[in-house]
Amino acid sequence: MDRVLSGMQPSGRLHLGNLVGALQNWVRLQDKYECYYFIADWHALTTHYTDTSKIGDYVHGMLIDWLSAGLDPEKSTIFIQSWIPEHAELHVLLSMMTPLGWLERVPTYKEKQEEIKDKDLGTYGFLGYPVLQSADILIYRAKHVPVGVDQLPHLEITREICRRFNFLYGEVFPEPEGLLTEFPKVVGLDGRKMSKSYDNCIYLSDTPEEVEKKIKTMMTDPHRVRRTDKGDPELSPVYQLHKVFSTKEEQAEVAEGCRTAGIGCLDCKRILIKNIFNLLEPIWNRRKVFLEKPDLIREIALRGTEKAKDIAIKTMGDVRKTLKLYM
Ligand code: TRP
Repeated sequence: MDRVLSGMQPSGRLHLGNLVGALQNWVRLQDKYECYYFIADWHALTTHYTDTSKIGDYVHGMLIDWLSAGLDPEKSTIFIQSWIPEHAELHVLLSMMTPLGWLERVPTYKEKQEEIKDKDLGTYGFLGYPVLQSADILIYRAKHVPVGVDQLPHLEITREICRRFNFLYGEVFPEPEGLLTEFPKVVGLDGRKMSKSYDNCIYLSDTPEEVEKKIKTMMTDPHRVRRTDKGDPELSPVYQLHKVFSTKEEQAEVAEGCRTAGIGCLDCKRILIKNIFNLLEPIWNRRKVFLEKPDLIREIALRGTEKAKDIAIKTMGDVRKTLKLYM
């Protein structure tokens, strides 16, 4: 079986957008590949270095979110980046041969610096973000890396660094490939992209009551003031969510009901609530079990880390040898 590797930064609770855009895919891949999934806590520090007080809680919360969403430690290796210092060792070696120009040209470097104005991202660590990511991937000799399109520049530089290493010192790393899948766009409660920073999310850790309340108070087509007003479903974020979470028949039914004022907004929302509840129910059930066992969460991370570490240690042995370091 080919090896798959991917990671996520622990920067808070996961929401429906993360579930549809990444986690569900990771869960599906578990049966087809040898999967390694890790929490990139060092990467989170590249942007959140001034206040590190929440990082431990975020890591723990992310483990619970992952396991509740169906990542299965019997199938996948789940681990924590900072528990495997070999990532840092490979990072430092790769940094020796990575031209500055390559890093300065990575589109996310400039974009993020311009986008995030409240933090000073003029740091060495932030510039080296893609080198650390390359180390994460190459150290496991992963073949496929499931990521969103936003991560493609990082994958491209990983491949470049990989080729440069192999050319300079000898073939150690296979070239990894991005594994892109089409995902439907999940809008938030206000119709913009679902995102923590917009405060418009339905979280995997929300209770059924919270989810119901969030959907019931969602905006709809603003032109539909009264029940008898006809609406345009395309102007309603509720309909955008139906497109992701409801069947084609239900979508047609609520669209028609909206246009003709045949149904009220609450009727439309009830169908969405039912479908999102169906999706979240198994996740809620697993979460309940895991919340009662905080030690188990840590144990799963420890066990996964141990397994990943074996591979990382082996690769670093090959790397040191190939670099002709004194052994
Ligand atoms: N940069 C990725 C993100 O923000 C997280 C990440 C770090 C990652 N290392 C990785 C993803 C290695 C895939 C492989 O989403």
